[in-house]
Amino acid sequence: MQVEQLTCALGAELVGVNLADAIHDDGLFAEIRAALLKHRVVFLRDQEITRAEHVAFARRFGELEDHPVAGSDPEHPGLVRIYKTPDQPNDRYENSWHTDATWREAPPFGAVLRCVECPPVGGDTTWANMVLAYENLPDQIKTQIADLRARHSIEASFGAAMPIEKRLALHAQYPDAEHPVVRTHPDTGEKVLFVNAFATHFSNYHTPGRVRFGQDANPGAGELLRYLISQACIPEYQVRWRWKPNSIAIWDNRSTQHYAVMDYAPCHRKMERAGIVGDKPY
Ligand code: SIN
Repeated sequence: MQVEQLTCALGAELVGVNLADAIHDDGLFAEIRAALLKHRVVFLRDQEITRAEHVAFARRFGELEDHPVAGSDPEHPGLVRIYKTPDQPNDRYENSWHTDATWREAPPFGAVLRCVECPPVGGDTTWANMVLAYENLPDQIKTQIADLRARHSIEASFGAAMPIEKRLALHAQYPDAEHPVVRTHPDTGEKVLFVNAFATHFSNYHTPGRVRFGQDANPGAGELLRYLISQACIPEYQVRWRWKPNSIAIWDNRSTQHYAVMDYAPCHRKMERAGIVGDKPY
């Protein structure tokens, strides 16, 4: 297997690998896992694998999970269909930088995403390295956020376009999760800036140390949260991947954010994602 680094920040292409082989080949799987931990997102071209092989490969990392709003392939539970077609005008929502499913108590470990169909141009996906984003924060911000925690909500994201009854039912089933703003990567011990578009507010900001006479000390909570979330937008932390059918991306969801660029209407774009269960951030 050759590993070709794509940017200084993150991302590498794995060349000379057939993912179907890694289902049974422990040595090959260990190499791919090590490359994933090092580069945070790895890419492969021309992987003519079946849906069953896609699921079986992803299962090597851990259990798979469905998504409560996006549907899964009925014959392959855990394989979430992200299909954008011209007949779904309401589903062409604008994307935002995010880490998958941080509204869960235990957000995903990562995902294996395969391109089934893509536009001739456009529909790229971009990832950002949130370890690098943390490292480059000014020291006074690192001190300020060291013990902060944030709420992450499915209600305010996927629920926002739903009628109120459905939105409240979604919230009842998936109550907000609370995570540290700076998590520790469970495999590498690195510190990760861990707020994204699902984060609605800090849950422990309002203390005498941070609030004076009822006013936030500078910068205020909302401003600070927006500043932290915006770090993923910095190009020096990113890699951008252009899709072709049967291209695959495997990402570490603990240390990255991603953004699927919605610039290709009215073309089709069909992706299938196997999301891998993760652990509770600390
Ligand atoms: C996702 O947001 O998990 C999917 C990314 C993509 O469709 O490129």
